[in-house]
Amino acid sequence: MTVAASAATFYGNIPEDARNRVKDMSDKSILEYETVELLDDENAIRIIDQTLLPGRQELILLRTAEEIWDAIYLLKVRGAPAIGVCAAFGIYLLSKQTETEDYEFFVSEFEKKKDYLDSSRPTAVNLSWALRRMEGVLLEMQKKGASVKEAKQALLKEAIRIKEEDIEVCRRIGEFGLTLVKPGDGILTHCNAGQLATCKYGTATAPIYLGQERGYGFHVYADETRPLLQGARLTAYELHAAGVDVTLLCDNMSASIMKQGKIQAIFVGCDRVAANGDTANKIGTSVVATVAARYGVPFYVCAPTSTIDMSLESGDLIPIEQRKPEEVTEMWYTQRMAPEGIKVYNPAFDVTDHDLIAGIVTEFGVARAPYTESLKEIFALKEKE
Ligand code: MRU
Repeated sequence: MTVAASAATFYGNIPEDARNRVKDMSDKSILEYETVELLDDENAIRIIDQTLLPGRQELILLRTAEEIWDAIYLLKVRGAPAIGVCAAFGIYLLSKQTETEDYEFFVSEFEKKKDYLDSSRPTAVNLSWALRRMEGVLLEMQKKGASVKEAKQALLKEAIRIKEEDIEVCRRIGEFGLTLVKPGDGILTHCNAGQLATCKYGTATAPIYLGQERGYGFHVYADETRPLLQGARLTAYELHAAGVDVTLLCDNMSASIMKQGKIQAIFVGCDRVAANGDTANKIGTSVVATVAARYGVPFYVCAPTSTIDMSLESGDLIPIEQRKPEEVTEMWYTQRMAPEGIKVYNPAFDVTDHDLIAGIVTEFGVARAPYTESLKEIFALKEKE
């Protein structure tokens, strides 16, 4: 009998390099480590390898473009905001390695690396959002007549700012989210929009963590989230480590628990929200939203403005990542659980229709229907800040 396969053994494009495994972290709680960290002096990004959780807590270093690309594609680092931060640090480190005084050449090398990193995952808009922000800084510095050395410094600052903002944004989402629930409520979540998907607090988990600090005594239910089990491996893991009362559910159990009246609110994260409020999030999210509507449970999307893509009119235009069939047929099992040659449908995300969403919780407040108007108001508030 073989050992259950991990993501790394399934997909690794590059051979595992022992020098990249930095630390066994089993002595500390997962919440004490940073999801994504820049080690500038070592020309590396340090991440928690999320494909190994919950069995092994390990930090790994990413140095090359291929290592960063693989880490994002393989979900070693995952969750829309964390992907954005990793890409920002990545493009900074890769640009830093370009030895030239010629700004035009520096920009052309930057663009190549940016496009490469941007191709690692298509749905989470934070990836292209963060890379575009970094590009904006580079071009602004060029207009000002800066040197390549100065541009590198500006890129470093911007990448650090993207990370710091993420922490602040998640906390604010938590504060707004907390106004939507009351002590003792049952809260359901799907996938992992937790600390592991961001730099702190998470988005969907931010109200839960703040409630935990303030003694709200929530009862949280985490969907296991087939096929990659982010709910079981990551959400249940990090909430349990934080001392939250969390119960794990298989994906097909949420209707039963809602029918029993145990859920007062649902908080999920998102990978991209269109201008009309349609929301792409982990596959299965729209099933939860549909069931919630049947049982009258409010379904909230927690969305940093960095995940709202006002350039897309509706969710029909959001690109949906398709992943390998083996994630469904074999991964995590000790033996294959489907006949050889079977056709497999494996989209990583689905789109929840805006009319199933009770509110979109951003760092500037809770947007309500009609989202075509309220999301514009949220961005107007952002402009003013
Ligand atoms: O494929 P994943 O694990 O990256 O999917 C993550 C999600 O669907 C999250 O809910 C989303 O990225 C928001 S994370 C704050």
